[in-house]
Amino acid sequence: MAQFDLLVRGGNVIDGTGAPARTADVAVKDGRIVALGEVNGDADREIDANGWWVAPGFIDVHCHDDIALLNTPSLDFKTAQGVTTVVCGNCGLGAAPANEHVKEFFARGIEGVLGPVKDFSWSTIGEFYDAVREAKPAPNVAFLVPHGTLRVSTMGWEHRDPTDAELGKMKDHLAEGMAAGAAGLSTGLMYVPGAFAKTEELIELNRVVAEYGGLYVSHIRNEGNGLLDSVREAIRIGEEAGTPVQISHHKASGRDNWGLTKESLPLIDAARERGVRVTMDAYPYTAASTSLAALTRNGRLVRALDPHDVMVASVKYQHEYEGKRLDEIADIMDLPVEDAVPKLLADEDQAVVAVMFIMDEADVRRVLQHPQCMIGSDGIPSPTGKPHPRLYGTFPRVLERYVRNEKLFSLEEGVRKMTQLPAKTFMLADRGEVREGAWADIVIFDASTIAEQSTYDEPRQYPTGISHVIVNGQVVVENGQVSEIPSGQFLTRP
Ligand code: CU
Ligand code: ZN
Repeated sequence: MAQFDLLVRGGNVIDGTGAPARTADVAVKDGRIVALGEVNGDADREIDANGWWVAPGFIDVHCHDDIALLNTPSLDFKTAQGVTTVVCGNCGLGAAPANEHVKEFFARGIEGVLGPVKDFSWSTIGEFYDAVREAKPAPNVAFLVPHGTLRVSTMGWEHRDPTDAELGKMKDHLAEGMAAGAAGLSTGLMYVPGAFAKTEELIELNRVVAEYGGLYVSHIRNEGNGLLDSVREAIRIGEEAGTPVQISHHKASGRDNWGLTKESLPLIDAARERGVRVTMDAYPYTAASTSLAALTRNGRLVRALDPHDVMVASVKYQHEYEGKRLDEIADIMDLPVEDAVPKLLADEDQAVVAVMFIMDEADVRRVLQHPQCMIGSDGIPSPTGKPHPRLYGTFPRVLERYVRNEKLFSLEEGVRKMTQLPAKTFMLADRGEVREGAWADIVIFDASTIAEQSTYDEPRQYPTGISHVIVNGQVVVENGQVSEIPSGQFLTRP
């Protein structure tokens, strides 16, 4: 019997801590890294990594793959990028705890973002986690408890504060999810019903998260002209409840608000100086993407958005609209935009996902460069249409565009943002580093050629320049070929 299961020979090892790359062999046994350096001994399988870079598998901290894990457990669009762990349940959106209200939540448009649920075979959060375990996904998975789903399941779409009894019920569900291993609580305060929750409700819920040692992750209330107050609110919630705070997809949206990250990042730095653990994630694009319904007020597109800046990414029925801008669609319908948008939403059962070109490159760079910023794709795994290219390209794009071409930060720092920093923040034990004793989540790539291939027009393209992706010691991607090996683990908070 060979001494090791797998031996990766002679690569430039980037360990995830930010330390400089060094040439080393990496030996794997029973899913873990057991030797590092000059390794003698034989292995069942050897990979010659001479001339390649060997890094910890990338951790995608901002995912909406909750249902995709059940429908396409290979999660090929993620593993092909070098992603070995996905954190789901973001933006307050999720499928558990489930009841009739939550089924309606999906029917009213969430299905467009998370995908169709074939069968709600669970009711509690723990039962949903079991369904994910049974689906045997290729990557590792961690979850957040989604506040929107908690609130809908408890009190429907009521635009008011919860009663004491309702708040108690939400806390019970949250505690159940935390006990089942969730990393923390997520909110989507721009969306209904998250938008109905006052700060006090969120502080109360976060006290439960604090008891379990979890973190608070927020799609904040307003990423446009209310950005600074919204960042202050997120920090206050964590500070008063005693939880670390992760600000999701940090950005300044809308032309009038470009440059606001010059003020939002110092708010985060100041909170950190007071001892509040605030971190953030971002995706490396100037376009955002979300449900079109969330961009409307009373059925009309919000005034801050130019219809030409909004592209329809995916719909349920009229696929000819996918890839077209709202002004073009209005022309085809021969209607003014004000009337075309509500008609489109009604015809599509609200399940329309949009891509919005609303950010400034300078803000994107400023946020990505911040030492507390990690990478999160926010990919929307629509089974049809033209999803935002971040679904397929986020991680290679950071290494290609911001490390290699623009030298915004070093290769080692770029890898740290994708590995050790997220593993520490989301409490993923023995992940995010190449070191003895860590789980063998590894990506082997060529730093001089790695490249995104997905575009807004043709998003469904695997990146190039990645030779192997390894999850818990098992090779799931080899030279662009993605397998369905059920190598992932369900990661629970320690
Ligand atoms: Cu999101
Ligand atoms: Zn979000």
